[in-house]
Amino acid sequence: MLFPVRPFLVTFAHQSIIMKLLENKVAIVTGAARGIGEGIALKLAEHGAHIAFTYVSDSSAEKAAALESRLTALGVQAKAWKSNAGDFAQCEQFVNEVVGKFGTVDICVNNAGISKDNLLLRLTPDQWDEVMNVNLKSVFNMTKQVIRPMMKARKGSIINMSSIVGIRGNAGQASYAASKAGIIGLTRSVAMELGSRNVRCNAIAPGFIETDMTHYLKEGEAAKTFLEKIPLGRFGSAEEVGNTTLFLASDLSSYITGQVISTCGGLNI
Ligand code: NAI
Repeated sequence: MLFPVRPFLVTFAHQSIIMKLLENKVAIVTGAARGIGEGIALKLAEHGAHIAFTYVSDSSAEKAAALESRLTALGVQAKAWKSNAGDFAQCEQFVNEVVGKFGTVDICVNNAGISKDNLLLRLTPDQWDEVMNVNLKSVFNMTKQVIRPMMKARKGSIINMSSIVGIRGNAGQASYAASKAGIIGLTRSVAMELGSRNVRCNAIAPGFIETDMTHYLKEGEAAKTFLEKIPLGRFGSAEEVGNTTLFLASDLSSYITGQVISTCGGLNI
């Protein structure tokens, strides 16, 4: 009796591993020339999604072109746009062009972000405004645009990059924490407004992920202190945030909206 069952299970398991979860979907990823955004773009493309991504500075143009090539080598269409996520008009133009080129938008990952860390006593109004604009207003800018094609199609997944710091705060990061907490409120509100149209909106709250943004945390005593607080005992990778994003982008999470998933090695326990 066991013999005919085993090959079936092996075949089934094999098929589920190679199954692409986002075949022919169109995904936007903001700020993807490096770091977590790059990891997300690659992961979604591995699963068959066509990728439209942004970068903001001329110095990232070379990296953006290299990513475009890596993505197309995975067999999907990919195009980089120079577009500032903090600028409403640029987001409007970007999304219009994406819809013009790809026909629709199924997935939008609002990943672009910056930090300008400073104790509140020293934090300037300009630093506050810059962080709010790039981290929080950008999510409003992009979401306003992508919900049009998503509502028309009666499906869509919006994924916003928050942070564990947005949930619990952090000394020296008042503006960053406030912007990331704001993203959670925005995420839940969008989920409530658009659930009836089958447009889902969720947030990811990464812990310490190894990227250019956190490179200074990896050295010396500070690194040891951080690692001691992480139950899994290591920093996370951009690919691991990409895996969470893939789950939220795909139909595997079809009954999940308005949630915050912490990809943080247990740091939030
Ligand atoms: P990163 O600094 O390596 O990458 C951020 C990307 O956003 C860069 O490519 C940058 O050019 C782009 N960007 C910045 N301003 C932009 C704008 N106005 N318009 C378009 N693109 C813009 O940072 P990382 O680590 O990859 O972070 C990605 C996201 O994940 C950010 O939102 C960050 O706040 C969040 N995050 C990161 C964590 C980490 O440990 N690295 C932890 C929690 C959240």
